[in-house]
Amino acid sequence: MMKVSGTISQVDIELQDRSYTIAIAPSLFDDPLSYAVLPRASSALIVSNTTVAPLYAQRLQAALQGKYSQLHHVVLPDGEGFKTWETLNLIFDALLQNGCDRKTVLFALGGGVVGDMTGFAAASYMRGVPFVQIPTTLLAQVDSSVGGKTGINHPLGKNMIGAFYQPLLVVCDLDTLKTLPARELSAGLAEVIKYGPIADMAFLDWIEAHIDTLLARDPAALAHAVKRCCEIKAWVVSQDERESGLRAILNFGHTFGHAIEAGLGYGQWLHGEAVGCGMVMAASLSARLGLVDAALVRRLTTLIQKAGLPVTGPVLDASDNAGRYLELMRLDKKSLGGDIRFVVIDAPGRASLRGAPDALVREVIDACCLRL
Ligand code: NAD
Ligand code: GLY
Repeated sequence: MMKVSGTISQVDIELQDRSYTIAIAPSLFDDPLSYAVLPRASSALIVSNTTVAPLYAQRLQAALQGKYSQLHHVVLPDGEGFKTWETLNLIFDALLQNGCDRKTVLFALGGGVVGDMTGFAAASYMRGVPFVQIPTTLLAQVDSSVGGKTGINHPLGKNMIGAFYQPLLVVCDLDTLKTLPARELSAGLAEVIKYGPIADMAFLDWIEAHIDTLLARDPAALAHAVKRCCEIKAWVVSQDERESGLRAILNFGHTFGHAIEAGLGYGQWLHGEAVGCGMVMAASLSARLGLVDAALVRRLTTLIQKAGLPVTGPVLDASDNAGRYLELMRLDKKSLGGDIRFVVIDAPGRASLRGAPDALVREVIDACCLRL
């Protein structure tokens, strides 16, 4: 990996023949040198959305122009509510209408929604074509662009249809975070905070000390956060690519969070907001199971709140709120035979997957949700 000026951080994902590099630096995505490692092909398709395309698509197109003789572009509608079969089909339409062959490279230019859908399209078009992640949200740079989880939502459950399919390369251009709305930056911080209690308490200390500089988009702070998150995710994914065990810890806060997203309707709360609140609930469950003390729950709650995220859950059903959460959580991919499994903190910096009695989960939901 080369760069004309400045330093570039590199994190490697070790997965035998599916290994790849995450490059992290400013001024990366529009530099043709960033893509020098990619194999030759005649065509490429840039996938972005109605918000990201006007900001960055032309510059990416210019950077790729010399590499591909046929460069196509598809612009998807923006939003979690469009992470559907219908939108996915727009990518297949573009590939087929342009006669794209099985060497065509897909470039996902956008946040996690564009990245997840482009990856799934790449996994399934002609049974698999190469793809590159160019994440432009903090959430996508620290989490979704790395590790090969791709997919779409189903009305009955989040990310229920998809495939494990690794990109060839991830290009995290820190400059793209300058145009991110503040609410989206906070949503990304939820996934940053996540890595502390599950894997690295020293990183949690660092986030607490730098939360204001992160919110102010200090370039050095953002660079460190993205790199450390990618290192932790690389360590986890390299050991457990297909989530047969360890990888589940990356879902800390997500079981409650996915219930919030599905229960409110996708897009009402941002994914990161739901995860932030879900982490408060998961930490509280860990304390009620006697695994960690209440001080850690308070510490996390304070940090999540400082990051600009909600820490009180929404009411999903006025007559039986906890029952509705439980019903939605039974659809979680980690559930087995209808039994919900939660990522809990076993000890500061260590997490695991386990069940919990419904009565205890109800207590957590009652304590963590708004009252009518
Ligand atoms: P997103 O993709 O919806 O992006 C958030 C918003 O920011 C969108 O409106 C987008 O158009 C806009 N945007 C993107 N980049 C921008 C930029 N640089 N400047 C201005 N606006 C910009 O949301 P997200 O938070 O990036 O991703 C959430 C999705 O990621 C969810 O669907 C979630 O399920 C998925 N996810 C996947 C994984 C995984 O491992 N695959 C992990 C975590 C989350
Ligand atoms: N974001 C969770 C995972 O990649 O496994």
